[in-house]
Amino acid sequence: MSKPLELAAGSCSGVRSASGKSRHVRLQRPSEPIGRILQLDSQQGLDDVLTKLHEIPGWCVSEGGLYREVHMVQRVLITAGGSGIGKEVAKAFASSGARVCVCDIDARALDTAASEIPGLHTVVCDVSKRADIERMVSAAVEALGGLDVLVNNAGIAGPTAPVEEADPEQWEEVMTVNVMGTFHVTRLAIPHLKKSPAGSIVVMSSLGGRFGYPNRSAYCTSKMGLIGFAKTLSRELGADGIRVNAIAPGAVAGERIERVLQGRADAERKTLEEVRSDAMRIQSLKRFVDPREIAALILLITSEAGKSISGQVLPIDNDAQTAS
Ligand SMILES: NC(=O)c1ccc[n+]([C@@H]2O[C@H](COP(=O)([O-])OP(=O)(O)OC[C@H]3O[C@@H](n4cnc5c(N)ncnc54)[C@H](O)[C@@H]3O)[C@@H](O)[C@H]2O)c1
Repeated sequence: MSKPLELAAGSCSGVRSASGKSRHVRLQRPSEPIGRILQLDSQQGLDDVLTKLHEIPGWCVSEGGLYREVHMVQRVLITAGGSGIGKEVAKAFASSGARVCVCDIDARALDTAASEIPGLHTVVCDVSKRADIERMVSAAVEALGGLDVLVNNAGIAGPTAPVEEADPEQWEEVMTVNVMGTFHVTRLAIPHLKKSPAGSIVVMSSLGGRFGYPNRSAYCTSKMGLIGFAKTLSRELGADGIRVNAIAPGAVAGERIERVLQGRADAERKTLEEVRSDAMRIQSLKRFVDPREIAALILLITSEAGKSISGQVLPIDNDAQTAS
């Protein structure tokens, strides 16, 4: 008889069998250096384990010469994954063996991403439009065969202006994309995540969600709102084994930060170099965050290694003490 196999939500497994005679089963996610070892009493035990794993949606078994491996194939939906941070997150999940679907408003960016990331599913979707979101979530879940991870990455920077001068339409647009878009994608994804053995939601907040930025009221309000959303959802969904976390990047290297810095320079009547140096002054580590580091953080918190992390706001900001 084999020892009973306990599969916690989110556990990922590797089964090794030397010539089919091994009596050890290693339960492991790809990111873990050491997995749990189960001692089996007979070959029959190994077959029991494989049968059980086969019954759980989202797990697959591949057989190789001297060993058999069983691992969970995460099914991942990333919003606004046609470029920028979302695309890096898609690349990282795809290289880890996950099935990945990204949506974006920009069809050409999606085509480019699909040509760069093998097996990527793409859906054109403007997350400010409910009808688009409804169509997109159904298409994504169908393409992926279910859903384990939702990364709510879509977010726009919005206007740079003092509140009294801010354009109310631009302000509303930020709320519609950043807050309402995240709400609608998430509410439609939840029934699918509840069927997952390892459901996980990531909400993209920002340094601006932890501190106010002068002249960025719409963005900061939306990103602070998303922290409230993540903290509420983690408590609502914990009983279903679904984890929810917000991440809060500081300034990230890429085109967007250049646009934001230019906007700030214009609003504050400073040079680009002055606002760049202001941005560095508030951090102890004098660098921008590499988008690949954000992708690595998201992979970690949605993995087995992150199974005790929920309801958190995880800064990744080179130790920023405030927002400049
Ligand atoms: N870049 C930074 O410095 C930084 C810092 C902190 C947080 N963030 C957050 O990270 C997320 C991604 O940022 P980024 O720098 O990669 O963004 P980005 O401006 O580079 O845009 C990424 C993608 O969003 C898509 N997009 C824009 N509007 C959309 C809509 N209505 N529907 C669907 N897709 C849409 C674009 O087509 C683009 O492909 C955002 O939520 C942002 O607020 C970024």
